Amino acid sequence: MAKQPTVLVLNGPNLNMLGVRQPDVYGRESLGDVEAVCAAKAKALGLGIDFRQSNIEGELVTWLQQARGRHAGIVINPAGYGHTSIALLDALLVTELPVIEVHLSNIHRREPFRHHTYTSQAATGVICGLGSQGYLLALEAMANLIKTKKARA
Ligand code: DQA
Repeated sequence: MAKQPTVLVLNGPNLNMLGVRQPDVYGRESLGDVEAVCAAKAKALGLGIDFRQSNIEGELVTWLQQARGRHAGIVINPAGYGHTSIALLDALLVTELPVIEVHLSNIHRREPFRHHTYTSQAATGVICGLGSQGYLLALEAMANLIKTKKARA
């Protein structure tokens, strides 16, 4: 049987505080809750997931480098680093994998400094403002991207 494709679901700084942190903006679900619904969705889509969080920019860069040739796609909530990190953009480009960027909140309705993300330049698509549902939609879209890429190969 062919090996199940796996998606790296990467979460940036402060997302470990989900549920506690500004619940009016980010909701009451914990990151563990988000991981559980992502795992169930991935299973239903026939995908494996590797769900991770780090507060350290360099660690996120290293994990992205390691994803090259190992994972089939990346779903990333870069959190605050999306607005600041060219290193994270470069690391996403290193993977040469389909990328979907997710934000729980609608970054375009918030402060102007949140309107731009460097990381979105590496993304096929960006989903924001739909809370944890955004991760599930991203996994659905990723399943299609992986399938169509395979169909083309
Ligand atoms: C966020 C939005 C970012 O602006 C913020 O820095 C985050 C979370 C979101 O999921 O809505 O940490 O990425």
